[in-house]
Amino acid sequence: MTISDELQGTIDQMVQRGKGILAADESQPTIAKRFAAIGVEATEEHCRTYRSLLFAAPGIEEYISGVIEFDDTLAQVDDAGIALPMVLAQRGIVPGVKVDKGKGALALSPNDSITYGLDGLAERLAHYKNQGARFAKWREVYAIGDRFPSALGITANAEMLARYAAVCQEQGIVPIVEPEVLIDGNHSMARCAEVTEAVQKEIFHALHRHHVVLEHIILKPNMVLPGKDHPVRASAEAIATATLQVFRRTVPMAVPSINFLSGGLSPEAATANLNAMNIAMPIAPWLLSFSYGRALQETVLQAWQGKAENLAAAQQALLKRARLNGAAQRGEYSSAME
Ligand code: 13P
Repeated sequence: MTISDELQGTIDQMVQRGKGILAADESQPTIAKRFAAIGVEATEEHCRTYRSLLFAAPGIEEYISGVIEFDDTLAQVDDAGIALPMVLAQRGIVPGVKVDKGKGALALSPNDSITYGLDGLAERLAHYKNQGARFAKWREVYAIGDRFPSALGITANAEMLARYAAVCQEQGIVPIVEPEVLIDGNHSMARCAEVTEAVQKEIFHALHRHHVVLEHIILKPNMVLPGKDHPVRASAEAIATATLQVFRRTVPMAVPSINFLSGGLSPEAATANLNAMNIAMPIAPWLLSFSYGRALQETVLQAWQGKAENLAAAQQALLKRARLNGAAQRGEYSSAME
């Protein structure tokens, strides 16, 4: 099998109508923050128990085609001693891994950030592949202000994503390319659209420069939304219209799937927005789907509370959100289903 066949096989398994991706790749500090909200300490054992619960949730394979794991999780086993990536693979869910090492300041460019982790990436990917991972994720982050992100910030971040994606494809790993324009701030939806469009344009230039095969990537962007402190809220329909305009302008048809991040939206809003996009554009060149972290896990954490007796209820909570987002991917969700 050629590397191209391998990449295509992974794409075929991940990109399916009515299905999306579960992001469960919280770094240690992030999972500690999520657990703190329910009064659970983020020990290695609690993290293992929680991720085992997620990955073994009965029925999710009907709506979830891939799961992004944190690299520590790849080496963990469930109570029966089965490696967590295998727990997923046995059910036809593709295991993947977050490979970036987080963001820091972009030197000499105030307000821009940049993500680290390219050094040694090829070797790490080979190791993750041995552990069962077949796709990877790398996130670049863009904060919005009147004067940022800067042109330099946009170019530098695009270059990182393209270099990461090229290394992944060379190793037979499908790259999820994740540029996240943050919801933080009081900017308008129009400003978010302007920044998101500039970010996407630069990313596709960079992917082209680095010979990345667009058929073998998945794009994981933000939706176009007003900032969370903006006085005016936007309807799901308005968000869908603004978001689709940006992606029609910037994302080539060769890209098989756009899997949105939830970025701090409520679970219901994340589902309703995705549904509105699929209603507005029922025949899109790309699958319009989800790769949610918080919007899939918030109700699960609430149901679980760190207690073994709540395991089944927590798994049911995950199944419910997965099912509703699966419906939203088909444009068949309604709030009555909540
Ligand atoms: P959210 O859906 O919670 O934004 O998380 C997605 C993700 O993977 C962020 O990198």
